[in-house]
Amino acid sequence: MNKFVFSTVADVVVGPGTSAQVGDMAVAMGISRVLVVTDAGIVQFGLLDKALQSLKSHNIEYSIYADVVADPPESVVMDAVAKARDFKCDCVIGFGGGSSMDVAKLLAVLINGKQLLADLYGVDKVTGGRLPLIQIPTTAGTGSEATMVSIITTGETTKAGVVSRTLLADKIILDASLTTGLPAHVTAATGIDAMVHAIEAYTSKRLKNPLSDMLAREALRLLAANISTAVKQGDNLEARGAMLLGAMLAGQAFANAPVAAVHALAYPLGGNYHIPHGLSNSLVLPYVLRFNAPAAAELYAEIAGLIMPGKLLPDDPTAVTEMLADHFLVLAADLGLQTTLRQMDIAENDLPKLARESMLQQRLLINNPREVNLNDSLAIYRQAY
Ligand SMILES: NC(=O)c1ccc[n+]([C@@H]2O[C@H](COP(=O)([O-])OP(=O)(O)OC[C@H]3O[C@@H](n4cnc5c(N)ncnc54)[C@H](O)[C@@H]3O)[C@@H](O)[C@H]2O)c1
Ligand SMILES: [Fe+2]
Repeated sequence: MNKFVFSTVADVVVGPGTSAQVGDMAVAMGISRVLVVTDAGIVQFGLLDKALQSLKSHNIEYSIYADVVADPPESVVMDAVAKARDFKCDCVIGFGGGSSMDVAKLLAVLINGKQLLADLYGVDKVTGGRLPLIQIPTTAGTGSEATMVSIITTGETTKAGVVSRTLLADKIILDASLTTGLPAHVTAATGIDAMVHAIEAYTSKRLKNPLSDMLAREALRLLAANISTAVKQGDNLEARGAMLLGAMLAGQAFANAPVAAVHALAYPLGGNYHIPHGLSNSLVLPYVLRFNAPAAAELYAEIAGLIMPGKLLPDDPTAVTEMLADHFLVLAADLGLQTTLRQMDIAENDLPKLARESMLQQRLLINNPREVNLNDSLAIYRQAY
């Protein structure tokens, strides 16, 4: 067996309604002043209410920073740090989607004043410690609650990541009752994103390992079996719970066996046209699967039964990969997602630019089972058009 390192969050609390236990958990952690990092939508939908009541009933002081925006810019992080310093918090709770949780991670580090945000971008640049950190996701997709990554918007179309084990939280609370109000199209896109995390972790070229494989398989089983129900019956708590758990397991997998070409080709779509991340992934996924077949068909065949349960699969792994690509096209359409770049109003003339930009994602492309060059990328975008 190859050597490997696997890191994850030590404590995970799972179950509908568990966000109402956060006060007890904070007491057990010796916490007395909490800054909750979230966005205005979460406050407006009342999703914080039970958690705040629980803090109050345990005499824990709290303050809410609710100005996180999707794809948060650096100014939001600095604003949140200033608020946290004023309030003198001794714990940070990230409460919301990936955007709120990513800001919470950086805030927990930056509050000590030892480093500037600009010093943190890249891998293993965090040198100091951080405040106690609890993550409570309200979307089932990014897996950010379980990753050691924070993604910040640094320019018009550019994002940068901070990658450090210090960003792994102390505790995750998976309360599916917080996700029943997620709109159908967000549920669909974020659910496909989580499936892509598991697929790309399973085929990750450099860091795939037995633990990430095990997590990716279980994530795919849960996500594939529940995505349609979660999209079509949003209040089905059983399906929502399975999606939330599946997305976290996929997060634990790709935190240790990183994602690859699907994400590398999806990022330019998000950056240039503000297409939601999960939908960007879904648009290129079938064609990246086909492209990767010569290098990864056997691995795809190993997980195909989990993604397409009950389907009779051919013996030939390449034929299975074809079926898998077709399956994702049919699934996306059935979930109400667009399936072509043309439908997204992208000009065909833009494809060479997208291909050039995808080549900048070498951090991801080095994990792909098959080498991708500029022409390959362009061919994939053309097929997705
Ligand atoms: N750190 C990581 O490992 C990692 C991985 C992938 C993506 N990301 C980042 O995560 C961010 C995207 O996160 P996201 O997709 O979870 O969305 P998000 O956090 O940007 O939230 C999107 C919208 O959904 C709303 N929302 C969230 N939960 C809701 C609920 N339960 N009901 C109704 N509305 C709800 C929010 O109010 C917000 O308006 C991006 O910045 C991306 O770069 C991080
Ligand atoms: Fe993703």
